[in-house]
Amino acid sequence: MQLINHTLKHYAGSKEPVAKSQNKMNITILTGAGISAESGLKTFRDSNGLWEGHDVMEVATPEGFARNPALVLEFYNQRRRQLLEVKPNAAHLALAQLQEKHNVHIITQNVDDLHERAGSNKVIHLHGELLKVRSCGNIKNIKHWDKDIIVGDVCEKGHQWRPHIVWFGEAVPAMDEAITIVEKADAVIIVGTSMQVYPAAGLMQYAPEHAKLYFVDPNPSLSSNDTLTVIAENATTGVAKVIEMIEK
Ligand code: APR
Repeated sequence: MQLINHTLKHYAGSKEPVAKSQNKMNITILTGAGISAESGLKTFRDSNGLWEGHDVMEVATPEGFARNPALVLEFYNQRRRQLLEVKPNAAHLALAQLQEKHNVHIITQNVDDLHERAGSNKVIHLHGELLKVRSCGNIKNIKHWDKDIIVGDVCEKGHQWRPHIVWFGEAVPAMDEAITIVEKADAVIIVGTSMQVYPAAGLMQYAPEHAKLYFVDPNPSLSSNDTLTVIAENATTGVAKVIEMIEK
């Protein structure tokens, strides 16, 4: 069953031009929790994943936060503490290296900062960022935050800080920018996602006809066809193989 969770809402977000220079391909990477699994972060829907141990409706919705803010804050505090203990893996690093030769955009569903720490410099976070907070009174009041958030941590105007995370049922402000990037892609590499959460899972439909699509996941939810090549492997080995295929 596919879940349609996040609302696609149109925002006038910043639109970075996606220019294609000679000899460079526009490569768009769409990543999910699986790319960070080998760094030690749990995925959501694998066995023993985060959604097995937690009720999504309680910890990842605005309603859950209104009911029990301390529970929700603690869920993300745990995620944040773990994030600060792990490192990018070979897959994050290989994708960062790819930008030396190509015009690479990373569109991630992940809230970790492992792509940035690996060195990728064009990263869009569709579902927010764990190392940021935003004010409950003003969605534009966002700042870096790397410690626990507790009830009573408030912004300058007295509103509670909340994790800068797109919860289920909330809009995905970065979606327009992501679509514009996918529309210019010569190749799209999808890594480590169950493709169950929309609108992110629908992004590959915006790839132009000439674009080659690759999907790296040890338990892939899609099969290979004329335009899609599936590599049923972990991110660390699978990403290296895709890069080899692209370079040929
Ligand atoms: N390498 C690559 N992929 C892996 C690895 C690995 N080592 N281990 C697991 N995977 C794959 C799984 O096979 C699965 O297809 O990662 C995928 C993880 O799927 P999900 O847990 O559903 O994560 P994701 O697709 O990122 O979830 C999307 O759901 O709850 C929300 O907002 C949350 O951004 C998240 C969204």
